[in-house]
Amino acid sequence: MSKQEEKQVNNDKFLDATLRPQKWHDYIGQERIKNNLKILITAAKERNHPPEHLLFYGPAGLGKTTIANLVAKELGAQIKITSGPAVERVGDLASILTNLSPGDVLFIDEVHRLNKLIEEVLYSAMENGSLDIIIGKGPSARTIQLELPPFTLIAATTRIALLSSPLRSRFSGGTFRLNFYSVGEIKKIIQRSAKILDIEIGDEAATEIAIRSRSTPRAANHFLKRCRDFAQVNKKPLDTECVKEALSLLEIDEVGLSQADRELLKTIITKFGGGPVGLNTIASAISEEEATIEDVYEPYLIQLGFLERTPRGRVATPHAYLHLEINLPEDEQHKLL
Ligand code: ADE
Repeated sequence: MSKQEEKQVNNDKFLDATLRPQKWHDYIGQERIKNNLKILITAAKERNHPPEHLLFYGPAGLGKTTIANLVAKELGAQIKITSGPAVERVGDLASILTNLSPGDVLFIDEVHRLNKLIEEVLYSAMENGSLDIIIGKGPSARTIQLELPPFTLIAATTRIALLSSPLRSRFSGGTFRLNFYSVGEIKKIIQRSAKILDIEIGDEAATEIAIRSRSTPRAANHFLKRCRDFAQVNKKPLDTECVKEALSLLEIDEVGLSQADRELLKTIITKFGGGPVGLNTIASAISEEEATIEDVYEPYLIQLGFLERTPRGRVATPHAYLHLEINLPEDEQHKLL
């Protein structure tokens, strides 16, 4: 990464933290989850005890980390943040847990990437509030039990199916699925972010960004900043035309698909007759990791109705052909009627 790019990434990270809602009132959408969490938090505060452990899942960019920060804030608790891949050894987890203060929130992102040995240590910490550590090996091995301060674990994952069922069942505070946002909700998020960043943007231009934001706040905020840059450099107002130009320069099309999304669909259609084709075959054909395809590309393509996951593999739908302006085989045309 060049120095310039690094500066841009750091600047974006700073802006992302600035844009993060600090109160329920500022958190747009996910109403059912918010209502449940408000009750959980209020009840826990009244009892003067941390809420039970929570699990959030759903596609990337929908605000799982944002919601974890908000829960901690509403509880008036400190949040300690780590992720599945960062916890490499049982000792890492033991150190994190024993350093918690009473009432802390521990946030583990990408929890599906914890290894199984560590998961097992986590069970007892979640259930009994204690840490069972085996010291030594063979006949002289013994278990010591460390009492932990009361804490709330908030875990997030894009891949709930990869969590073992014993781990899943220990999130007794609740398991919540974050849904894609409506265009109206994304538009509100864009307007809120524009206000914070002091960006002047018209109603129509905000709608245009919202339509292309893949129903996710992360993409919406990213596009807003890139459109602002484009308007500034070209000395133009940030209107609809400017949004269209800026986003087409980024190769984002009218429904929010990127070049990579389109390549994935095109590969299924042109190389594999529209499917069904296995995930591993697609991954090799476009030189991308299977996990990235499943976590990053597919959820929105499925949401748009451009892709289907079937037991025999992935299938491009007639709507995908139409969007990419590829002729649909004659025997499939009735599906568009
Ligand atoms: N940023 C990320 N998610 C958000 C949301 N749901 N509302 C407002 N800003 C957000």
